[in-house]
Amino acid sequence: MAARDPSNLRSARWFGPDDMRTLSHRARMKQMGYASDDFDGKPVIAILNTWSDLNPCHAHFKTRVDDVKRGIVQAGGFPVELPAMALGEVFMKPSTMLYRNLLSMQAEEQLRANPVDGVVLMGGCDKTVPGLLMGAFSMNLPTIFVPAGPMLSGNWRGERLGSGSDIWKFWADRRAGSADKSMQEGIESGIARSPGTCMTMGTASTMAAITETLGMSLPGAATIPAVDAAHTRMASASGRRIVDMVWEDLKPSDIISPASFDNAIKIALAMGGSTNAVIHVVALARRMGIKLDPERFDEFSVETPFIVNVRPSGKYLMEDFHFAGGVGAALKVLAERLDLTTRTVGGISLGEAIAPFEVYLPDVIRPLDNPVEPAGALVVMKGSLAPDGAVIKRTAAEPRLLKHRGAALVFKDYNDMTARIDDPSLDVDENSVLVLQNSGPNGGPGMPEWGQLPIPKKLLEKGVRDMIRISDARMSGTSYGACVLHVAPESFVGGPIGLLRDGDIIEIDVDGRRIDVLISAEEMEARRQAWVAPGRKYERGYGAMYGRHVTQANLGCDFDFLTGNAPTAEPEIH
Ligand code: FES
Repeated sequence: MAARDPSNLRSARWFGPDDMRTLSHRARMKQMGYASDDFDGKPVIAILNTWSDLNPCHAHFKTRVDDVKRGIVQAGGFPVELPAMALGEVFMKPSTMLYRNLLSMQAEEQLRANPVDGVVLMGGCDKTVPGLLMGAFSMNLPTIFVPAGPMLSGNWRGERLGSGSDIWKFWADRRAGSADKSMQEGIESGIARSPGTCMTMGTASTMAAITETLGMSLPGAATIPAVDAAHTRMASASGRRIVDMVWEDLKPSDIISPASFDNAIKIALAMGGSTNAVIHVVALARRMGIKLDPERFDEFSVETPFIVNVRPSGKYLMEDFHFAGGVGAALKVLAERLDLTTRTVGGISLGEAIAPFEVYLPDVIRPLDNPVEPAGALVVMKGSLAPDGAVIKRTAAEPRLLKHRGAALVFKDYNDMTARIDDPSLDVDENSVLVLQNSGPNGGPGMPEWGQLPIPKKLLEKGVRDMIRISDARMSGTSYGACVLHVAPESFVGGPIGLLRDGDIIEIDVDGRRIDVLISAEEMEARRQAWVAPGRKYERGYGAMYGRHVTQANLGCDFDFLTGNAPTAEPEIH
C-alpha cells in the first residue's frame, strides 16, 4: 500500500496520456456536461447502486445516492453512478441466490472495464451484500460499503411485527384454522412500513453486521434505520471517506485477513445470525484466497454466546439493536474474544473503531454473563446423510428436537411437497422427519429458501409447531424451526439425501454434530448405482453457465472459475 497522487490514479490511464484515445475519452466526458476541472486529477469514484423499482428494500437508494455523491464531491472526488443488479429478494424467482454470482461478476467487471479509482457499494437486501463484496474483493480497488439499513419496525394493532417471522407464524396459524383472513390485510399493510431491509436478524441484517465487522463499512453503519437522518449522514460520510481511501490506496487486501473473518463469524454467532451467512462468508473468504470452511462457524459456535436479543431467535427488532448501541457495542461486549488489530476502511483498527460504542439497552445486547443462550447458535453436522456437511440454527429449533430419531417422509421436489403436504392421508406424525430433495445449488436451481418446510396441516391442527425438516435448500434468515439445511452433496449430484426413501430411519444429534441415515453401506451403494441423474433445467444462457460451474454449499456456491485471488490483467487502453 503506497499513497497515490493524481499522476498515478488508475483513471489517469483513460484521461491523462497525450493520444487520440484520451482525446476521445475526454470529449465524451464533456458530452455529459463535465468540464476538465470536474474530473482531471481527481479520484473517480464508482457508486454501484443496486436500486430498482422491484427492490423495496433499496427504494431509498434512488435518492440516497445523491448523499454519497455529495460526500465524494466535498472530499475532492468525482462520483459516477453505475447501476448494478438489484436482486430484490422477495420478487426474484426461483431465488436471488441463482444471481448472486452474476451480480459479483457484474460488479467486478464494471470496475475493471471503466476508468474508476475507488468504489462505494450500495446494497443491503440479502444477496446484494455478498454479491457486491465478492466482486469488489476480486477487483481489489479501494472499497467502502453503504448498507441499506433496516426498515422501521412492523406494527399491527399495537403488536410489533418482525419481517418474515411474523408472516410465517401468521400463515401457520391460518392453515391451522386459528387465524382468520381479517388479520391478513392488517399484517399486509403493517409489516413493511418503510424502505429498508428486513428488520429481524435475517440475512440482510446479519450480512450488514458482518460487513461492518470485516471493516468494510463505517463504524455504526450496519444498523442505522434506512429512513433515519443518520443514514443520510452515514452515506455522505462514506462518500468523503472513499476519496481519502483512494489517496491512501487502502484496498480490501490491505483490510481483510483471516482474523477479520474469524471476527465476522463470531459476531454472526453472537447475533443468532442467518444460516445463509455460512455460505456467503465461505465464498467471500475464498475470493480473498483464504481457505475457510463451514466448520469454522461450528468451532466458534461452541464458545460464542448468543447475546444480541433480536428475532427470530430473540425478542427485539433491529431498531432496538441500533438504539442499544448496534454492532460496535456488541463487538465491544465480545472484545476479549476478538482480534482487535484487524483493519477497517477508516484506516484504524477494529479496536479503535469500536472504542466509542457503549451498550445502552442491556436486555437487547446482553452481557457475557447473562446471554440469551450460552453458546451454539449455528451447528455444522456431518454423517452418512451429509458427508460434506449440513447446517442447523440451533437457537431457532425446539430443544426437544436437538437429539432425534424418526422415519423419513421424502418429497422429491418442491412441487411434490406442496401437492402432498396437507393431504389428510399423509403418513406423518410429529416424530417424522420431513425431507425435501432437489432444492440445492443445482437442484433448485439456485438453492431457494425452501428449507423451512411447512408443518403438515393435520399436525398443525394438533398443535405441532416444529419438527425435524431436512433439505439441501437454504432457509430465510427470518425463519425458525428445526430445519437442517445446506445438506452437501446435494440430491441433484447424487448426494445421499437424494437416495433417501420413505421410512428410512434418520438420526440427528445436534450437540454431537451427527446426522445419519441408518441404512447399511451396501444398501446405500445399491441405491447409488440405481440412481439416475436428473436433467438440467437450463440448456442455454446464464442458467446453463450457472449449472456447469456452481460449487456445493460447503464451498460457498461460488463459480469454480471465480474463487481464489489469482491476478487478473488490467484492460489495455486502446
Ligand atoms: Fe430485502 Fe429481506 S426482502 S432484506
